Amino acid sequence: MVEYDEQLSKETERGYLMPEIVNQRSRTIAALHLQAGEHVLDVGCGMGLLTQELALAVGTNGRILGIDNSPSMIKLAQKRCTDISQIDIQEASVTTLHEPDNSFDAVTCAQLLLYLPDVPKALAEMHRILKKGGRIAIVETDWRGVLFNTMDESFTKSLFDGWEASIPSPHLPGKLSMLLRQAGFTAVSVQGIPIINTSYLPDNYSAGMVTYMLRSELEKGRVTQEQADAYVADLKKRSDAGEYFFCVNRFLFTAVK
Ligand SMILES: C[S@@+](CC[C@H](N)C(=O)[O-])C[C@H]1O[C@@H](n2cnc3c(N)ncnc32)[C@H](O)[C@@H]1O
Repeated sequence: MVEYDEQLSKETERGYLMPEIVNQRSRTIAALHLQAGEHVLDVGCGMGLLTQELALAVGTNGRILGIDNSPSMIKLAQKRCTDISQIDIQEASVTTLHEPDNSFDAVTCAQLLLYLPDVPKALAEMHRILKKGGRIAIVETDWRGVLFNTMDESFTKSLFDGWEASIPSPHLPGKLSMLLRQAGFTAVSVQGIPIINTSYLPDNYSAGMVTYMLRSELEKGRVTQEQADAYVADLKKRSDAGEYFFCVNRFLFTAVK
C-alpha cells in the first residue's frame, strides 16, 4: 500500500509543479465551469495545488474544502493555502466525509481513487454531498498503457508490475463511467490527458515514478543498487541523445448529480 509520508508528499509536490500536471489542473477546472461564489470539495487534495486554483475560480465569496487522509499532505496544503480565506483544509477520508447531504456545487477528485479498495463507496459519498445538478470531475490513470523506451523491457515491466501490485485499482478508467452511473450520476463524459515526457529531468513525472518504483523494489530486495544505477544511467543517456520517451494516459471524467 502506498503511504504518503513526508518524503513521498514532497516528491509528489515537486512533480506536480511540472507543466504536464499544470495542464491537467487547468483542464480539470475548465471542465467544471465554476462560477463565483460556488462551494467546492477537493477530495484527496494532497499538497493543495488544485485546491488553490479552485479558490481563484470561485473567488472570496466561494468556499473550497480540501480533505486528505495523509497528515504530511495536509501540512503541505495548509502551508500553501494559508493566506486564502475561502479555503479550509481538513484531515478526513473520502469514504467517510463529515459534510452534510446536498451541500456542494462541485467536487474534484484527482488521482485518488486508484488507492481505494472500495471505489463505489467513495463515489456514493461524493454523490451524497453534492447538490442536485452539482458537477464532479475525476482524474484517473490507466497504468496498463505505459509507453517507455528503456534498455531492458522485462526489468521495466517488473517495475510497473510492482507498482500496480501496490495499489488496489490501477486500471480504473475502463469501468469508471459505469461506476459513476451506478452511483447515480448522469451526463458522464471523458477526455484523455496523456502525460508525455521526452526527457529525463529530475522532477518530471516519469523521473519521479522511476525514483519511487526503484526505491520500493530496492526496499523489497527485488532489485540491487547496481541494477538501479544502471537503469537510471541508461535513461539519462537516452535523454541526452534525444531518445527518451515516456507516456501514460490519464482520463478526466465529468458527470452531474
Ligand atoms: C497522487 S496524490 C494527488 C493529490 C491531488 N489530488 C492532486 O492531484 O494534486 C493522492 C492523494 O490522495 C490521498 N488519499 C489516499 N487515500 C485517501 C483517502 N482514503 N481519503 C482521502 N485522501 C486519500 C493521498 O494522501 C494523496 O494526498
